[in-house]
Amino acid sequence: MIHIDDARRLYALHTARTTYAMAVDDAGRLLHLYYGPRTAAARLPQSPHNDPGCHPDLLLQEWPAPGLGDNHAPFFQPEFADGVIAADLRFAGAERSPGKYSLPGLPAFRDGEGAETLRVTLRDELGLTVTLLYGVLPDCDLITRAAIVENTGSAPVTLRGVPSAVLDFARHDLDLITFDGAWAAERTPHRAAVRPGVQGVGSVGGIPTHAHNPFVVLCAPNAGETRGSCWGAALVYSGNYRCQVESAAAGIRLSLGIEPFRFAWTLAPGERFTAPEAAFVYSDAGFGGMSRNFHNAIRRHLVPPRWADPAAPRPVLLNSWEACYFDFDEAKLLALAKAARAAHADLFVLDDGWFKGRDSDTTSLGDWTADRRKLPGGVAGLCRKINALGLDFGIWVEPEAVSPDSDLYRAHPDWALHIPGRPTLEIRHQYTLDFSRADVRENIWQQLCALLDSCPIRYVKWDMNRSLANVYSAALPAARQGEVYHRYVLGVYELQQKLTGRYPDLLLENCAGGGARFDCGMLYYSPQIWTSDNTDALDRQSIQYGTSFCYPPCVMGAHYSTVPNHITGRTASVEARMAAALTGTFGFELDLTAYTGAEIEALHPYVQFYRDHGALLRGGDLYRLAAPDGRGAAWAIAAADGSEAVVFAAGRVLDGRSLPLPFARPGVRYALHAAYTGGHADDAADGDALAALGLPLPDLRGDLPGYLCYIKTEG
Ligand code: DGJ
Repeated sequence: MIHIDDARRLYALHTARTTYAMAVDDAGRLLHLYYGPRTAAARLPQSPHNDPGCHPDLLLQEWPAPGLGDNHAPFFQPEFADGVIAADLRFAGAERSPGKYSLPGLPAFRDGEGAETLRVTLRDELGLTVTLLYGVLPDCDLITRAAIVENTGSAPVTLRGVPSAVLDFARHDLDLITFDGAWAAERTPHRAAVRPGVQGVGSVGGIPTHAHNPFVVLCAPNAGETRGSCWGAALVYSGNYRCQVESAAAGIRLSLGIEPFRFAWTLAPGERFTAPEAAFVYSDAGFGGMSRNFHNAIRRHLVPPRWADPAAPRPVLLNSWEACYFDFDEAKLLALAKAARAAHADLFVLDDGWFKGRDSDTTSLGDWTADRRKLPGGVAGLCRKINALGLDFGIWVEPEAVSPDSDLYRAHPDWALHIPGRPTLEIRHQYTLDFSRADVRENIWQQLCALLDSCPIRYVKWDMNRSLANVYSAALPAARQGEVYHRYVLGVYELQQKLTGRYPDLLLENCAGGGARFDCGMLYYSPQIWTSDNTDALDRQSIQYGTSFCYPPCVMGAHYSTVPNHITGRTASVEARMAAALTGTFGFELDLTAYTGAEIEALHPYVQFYRDHGALLRGGDLYRLAAPDGRGAAWAIAAADGSEAVVFAAGRVLDGRSLPLPFARPGVRYALHAAYTGGHADDAADGDALAALGLPLPDLRGDLPGYLCYIKTEG
């Protein structure tokens, strides 16, 4: 609910459990008042600095502008034609409307029940208007923000930095958590007290990259998994970004937006620029409460509506990558598909290596037609045969990439991002197509349509295996090169929008060399993203644990793979590997042709487990019960009313432990079904005991043992 108090010039956004408030001071400055537990507007504090003489550096502001006394590191940087880099933005009005705003050409959380929008207009008399958009999704305690900057003057204005949102805190004692890593080790949480000065995470690689994620948490020093105040902030964007935290005189300032490095966007009079959306959740129930709100928001209001219903089945797929890499022919693929069918999979995904000449990663990206040596009947011929085995068919593409050794590159060398006169950097032997260009996108669009129209392709894995370099577009003049990074991202969004629009039932999975582009922007187009190339069950615990702070299990691409693991060489039990895969999108990625009939049959109970409990696994509340400590971890996914849950544990966390289940209902008896024994009811327990004393874990031994248990209230 949005509350407007015109007399006090106070604006409050209420969600089910939180309140966000701002007010206009006597000088017309829009000040931040409050973001925390739900509070009646009448009880909100007055602005502590309602004094026009107050030093601007001490103000808590909703949209700070540089050059007029705010001495924080500037994020918003408008440069007027006369060289002035300063803005004096004063409140010019606010209006509330039902429903949540959307942002043309950009991903954003979608409308939902009870959603509302507040538009606040700030005006600089020199010719700049900023419209701040606030979205309220009350059911998940989500507040979203975006901003539209308009040149209302008579000369051009160049924007050299535009935050999506700024959030000021009148305190210095907060911890910052970022999610960092590398290829095969994405999104490990790092927590530290905010230090004086500027810090943060971001990317200049054109994609978020493996190094950091565009999601951060600020929290009280005593906050933990189950208690304490925390503020999560996610940027709904997939390109260069900055999440900047500055501790200065007045407190802590969090700013999120497109990375200002190499960003310059010139607005002619009358033109507007829209900054991508940022989304916030406050929770006083610790990280668990915060994450569950983000999960609900992402599942209900961000992923494509076609895939939003947790009860709508998702296919159990087998992906060919770890089974074949580039080394296959049609016979090998069909044998693999047959084994996938025997394992009760629904869909066969042909990963990299299927297009002409692609026997290694050195060649052919950009030429999206089948290699007839490997697939004599083309993709359509293979698809027919796969379908005849009773499986749907899916395929891998990397539309943004081009190999120097490809027909596409030979015909259009200027279509790759390159700096004239300099050697172009190959990473993984490939260049990146200039997706800021409409003609380049059109070519790839036509190739994708030809592929997808050739046969019933039900799933596409859209990969992106390198960060951008040599960022310069042959199609733009020198003065507009600062637009290229952002136009590139807009181009990717445009193509994914067209793809899912033309093929509405297509299941799109994004991927970037594992999880280098795992963000809320991509989730607007694809309901799942490949989490990491690392499928090792122990490493996956950490990767999926960190990922789960913002993103729900059902969007995490997760596959059961072989042992020893191809990346780590480590061995893990079937249950531990299944636990990791079942708390993601669930699928297989291994050479099942090497399995005996009995070994394949042993996989059936898990596939059945996923089918039986898929709606719960996709739609339930995640509880991180024991954080990964290098030896093991435990977690559960529970129905919102606590009536059923799946509990997972893997590793030495099992040693004589009981796992308290905070969602268990008192006064109710639960049946416990340990799935690894085949799913029979083997025990029962009282909800009170499960909540207080915990679910006793069996004493399992061996290499990374695992445990899966389904519990349900009796009667
Ligand atoms: C990186 C992906 O993460 C892998 O799953 C696989 O698709 C390869 N690319 C193929 O080149």
